[in-house]
Amino acid sequence: MAANTIELNRSRYNFDGVESIWLFGYGSLIYKVDFPFLEQRPARIDGWVRRFWQGSHDHRGTAEAPGRVVTLVEQPGACCRGMAYRISPTVFEHLDEREKNGYLRFSTTLTFYDASQTEGLVYIATEDNEAFLGHAPEADIARQIASAQGPSGLNAEYLVQLAEALRDLGDNDQHVFSLERLLTT
Ligand code: SIN
Repeated sequence: MAANTIELNRSRYNFDGVESIWLFGYGSLIYKVDFPFLEQRPARIDGWVRRFWQGSHDHRGTAEAPGRVVTLVEQPGACCRGMAYRISPTVFEHLDEREKNGYLRFSTTLTFYDASQTEGLVYIATEDNEAFLGHAPEADIARQIASAQGPSGLNAEYLVQLAEALRDLGDNDQHVFSLERLLTT
């Protein structure tokens, strides 16, 4: 699959007659909210974990020296906490552009902190996209993050801001927090 997913995402869902839809954010969408929303609620999705396994050529790295950003990886029994936004479907014009480096929109069930549930969408960069980097030892991932930067800034900033946002959500994401520790040691 090509790294640029704009066209693929546009053809994936028909939003005719849909006034608003929930979007689950688990990475930069938690702390960099550069889009309008109607409502915002902490939520989780089950069966997925957050991993710094996606390469970033356009935001936090370059084609020559890609950074690493998060995607979701399936893991039965696990859950991933994040922030859900109820948005107008028109907002996907901006979000598809922002998430174009390998992320596709998938349907998912969101669970809010009061245990109520709803259907929504989530951007996931699956392993068949060209920018996918996959698993590596955490020390290597941290080193790559420490040295990468792109048009949106330092890759390290992405990691630190995400870790802070997850602490604010009361999350205990060992992968993210141990990368953050490795970054500063
Ligand atoms: C997300 O935040 O939900 C997707 C990944 C990212 O943009 O960092």
